[in-house]
Amino acid sequence: MALHIRRVLVTGGAGFIGSAFVRQRLKSDQEIAITVLDKLTYAGSEENLAELRDDRRLRFVKGDICDPSTVDELAKDVDAIVNFAAESHVDRSLLDPGAFVQTDVYGTYVLLEAARKHRHQRFLQVSTDEVYGYVKDGRSKESDGLAPRSPYSATKAGGEMLVQAYHASFGLPTLITRGANTYGPYQFPEKIIPLFITNALQNLPLPIYGNGSAVRDYLHVDDHVSGIARILWKGEPGGAYNIATGTEVSGVEVADTILKLCQKPSSLKHFVKDRPGHDYRYALDTRKLRPLGWEPALRFADGLRVTVEWYKRNEAWWRTRKSEDFWQYYRANYKGLPANAVPD
Ligand code: NAD
Ligand code: TYD
Repeated sequence: MALHIRRVLVTGGAGFIGSAFVRQRLKSDQEIAITVLDKLTYAGSEENLAELRDDRRLRFVKGDICDPSTVDELAKDVDAIVNFAAESHVDRSLLDPGAFVQTDVYGTYVLLEAARKHRHQRFLQVSTDEVYGYVKDGRSKESDGLAPRSPYSATKAGGEMLVQAYHASFGLPTLITRGANTYGPYQFPEKIIPLFITNALQNLPLPIYGNGSAVRDYLHVDDHVSGIARILWKGEPGGAYNIATGTEVSGVEVADTILKLCQKPSSLKHFVKDRPGHDYRYALDTRKLRPLGWEPALRFADGLRVTVEWYKRNEAWWRTRKSEDFWQYYRANYKGLPANAVPD
């Protein structure tokens, strides 16, 4: 049967990557209609979709992917689900794993049941490179085993296992994407890049875990979501696809580059107690994805420059998110911070 995906349920579409996917799809595909289902946790906001407020092809519903009746009601009118909804921050998963089990595993099950019942054409699960665990040498291939080491990556791996099971047991046409560390506009200021940019702009110390040598492959959000779209329309059901740039950048390099772009002194770098179970390296092999016609458009240096510009221009957006609740989380998470690490 030819693929005819016109109506898509985007769960978690008010978050960082989900909202970028919605913006990009509505811009590049005139025939698509998107329903966003989002619980609006601390990480999600309708503000992230504000520029689409008058677009009649977009419908927003506030609700939980763990609620079967809400999900069923929306799933009956769409051709596919793209699931971005998740608790997504490793450090928070170390403080409160329960919320991760609920959304990232149980929530995925609720969505899979609805996709199966309504015979959807595709179910795409947005997963992460973190499911492979700490990769000392070489690059992870899609056929490698999963070895998650944090409650976050374990629950993402659990969600993936259910997706694979629904493909094998029920023939659901599923896809899994394993994206690298993503950065860009509208990212909640808890992940390294937006935290370091906004701390630098506030003249606050940049907390670097351990000696700052852990590396990540930083992928601009526009490149990540164009990869997801490629895989949704061109990927082989039942498969998983890595999405990454192939470059490796350490924590110290991230801090140095941001301080330079913000014209702030290197003395703002502050080394703190290491994250427990820190995965010191992720690295993906993307040879399976390339033949679908995807490649990253933005180099890290350019992507970071435009991202810093965005945070400079959108101070009200990130200041609202650095609320009292945020600083409470911050104090609980970081050990060994100097007295001047949080605002008065
Ligand atoms: P995010 O935390 O910014 O957004 C998550 C969104 O999901 C928020 O809008 C939140 O309100 C919503 N949500 C949470 N629980 C929900 C629930 N129970 N029901 C409905 N909505 C709920 O996360 P993000 O960085 O945009 O990540 C999106 C997806 O991409 C996640 O699945 C994450 O695991 C994956 N991913 C993220 C990265 C990264 O670097 N940020 C990299 C690879 C993969
Ligand atoms: P993060 O953005 O939390 O993503 P990941 O899910 O990959 O852990 O962290 C990226 C890297 O940056 C990781 O090696 C941990 C490091 N890091 C710091 O050094 N300081 C910080 O405050 C944060 C949030 C991360």
